[in-house]
Amino acid sequence: MTDILTSRPRLKGREIFSAFVCDDQSADQVRATCQALNWPIDRVHKGGLKNAVQTLSVSSSPSILFIDLSDTTHPLQDINALAEVCEPGTMVIAGGQMNDVRLYRDLLASGIQDYILKPFNPEQLRDSFSHAQTILSAPKQGDGDDIPRSQIGVVGVRGGVGASTIATALAWTFAEHERRTTAFFDLDAHFGTAALALDLDPGRGLADAIDNPARIDGLFLERALVKGSEKLSILGAEVSISTPILTDGTAFHLLQEELRSSFECTVSDMPRDLVILHPHLLNEVQTLLLVAEPSLACARDTFRLLTWLKAQAPHVHPLVILNKQTSAAATEVSQSDFEKSIEQKVDVTLPEDAKTVRQSAKLGKAVTDAGKSSKLGAALLALAHQLANEAGAPKAHQGTNRSNGMDLSEMFQKLTGWGKAKGTSEKASYADG
Ligand SMILES: Nc1ncnc2c1ncn2[C@@H]1O[C@H](COP(=O)(O)OP(=O)(O)OP(=O)(O)O)[C@@H](O)[C@H]1O
Ligand SMILES: [Mg+2]
Repeated sequence: MTDILTSRPRLKGREIFSAFVCDDQSADQVRATCQALNWPIDRVHKGGLKNAVQTLSVSSSPSILFIDLSDTTHPLQDINALAEVCEPGTMVIAGGQMNDVRLYRDLLASGIQDYILKPFNPEQLRDSFSHAQTILSAPKQGDGDDIPRSQIGVVGVRGGVGASTIATALAWTFAEHERRTTAFFDLDAHFGTAALALDLDPGRGLADAIDNPARIDGLFLERALVKGSEKLSILGAEVSISTPILTDGTAFHLLQEELRSSFECTVSDMPRDLVILHPHLLNEVQTLLLVAEPSLACARDTFRLLTWLKAQAPHVHPLVILNKQTSAAATEVSQSDFEKSIEQKVDVTLPEDAKTVRQSAKLGKAVTDAGKSSKLGAALLALAHQLANEAGAPKAHQGTNRSNGMDLSEMFQKLTGWGKAKGTSEKASYADG
């Protein structure tokens, strides 16, 4: 039986969040914020500081705790009682109706992370909660080699499904929100879009590496990388389409090894044909995002790729991403038919969102940057957070979206608002034989 707790996001083994609020309106607002951040909404309890002290004296504390101080007339004194029952490292955010700058300062001095005035404003709640999360996820000084490395591959099961859009968003978010040093490796040397999407010049680094793999080392890599920001580096090319790419995959593999030793996260945008031709390129990949659209051909090819992965790269944990999802009636294949065809659940559903991708293209920014409050942006922010925090965890390839102990599918349906499509078309099965 699945332990219900394992399907919740956790930070270093603790429940990420709990809240104790005094009134229904505030509880609803905190729940809505939790939902947007993919935090459990069932951890929002009724009752303020007093109930929190009682509850936490007999249960473990979350990483982030939100407390409504409206039920106390002496917040500073009573907060000390909370300190006694909270486990060390708990980050406390308080809310209340006292608009008093002195109280605010005293609360911060007593170790409270933030104080939010009632009535709560959703944006303030969200900013404050995500800021706390960013602080908690940031590598601490002295963490050194304990920092888990994330190696994520992204493959479109067919052309134009949005694989590069997703890879760009993940790489940017790992660097800018999760604050991990990140390499975004675009292995599509002819037609790659990593640099284009971020309004950068890809340079000649990757082209030189392919021409002369013997030169690849740390120093070479440093020169080949293009800086996207303090923590984001890009390795790609725009090789002339009249110049064939002649490689047995060695250059790509050597570059992957160098990137792994230099960066906390690597996101590789991998053309499907290249991966099939050189399966050893998956040796450096822990989690592979198979990006598909709700179409018949994508269902067939997702199934074929999942089967191929089990045989060729059993160490890889595949995540099936169904991108460009619209209402059930508007898709070629419903989600339920898609899932029947691939014989497993879709892990993540992302909505069709022309407005956000247009804005992202116009600004030369990742969709998580240009459209962070859109459903598409929010879902990708949540996915990046999930992947960054799972880094290094052993994965079993079981061909199910519960193989990592989390129901990502449910989580993303909640977040994007797309329910499971109730399709009626015939089941299409592509099982060999
Ligand atoms: N969720 C989405 N909603 C709307 N449009 C999208 C979405 N995701 C991607 N797109 C658009 O789909 C097009 C193809 O996206 P992208 O280049 O990322 O696909 P790809 O799978 O990498 O393609 P290729 O096979 O050429 O590498 C782009 O115009 C992109 O803006
Ligand atoms: Mg692409």
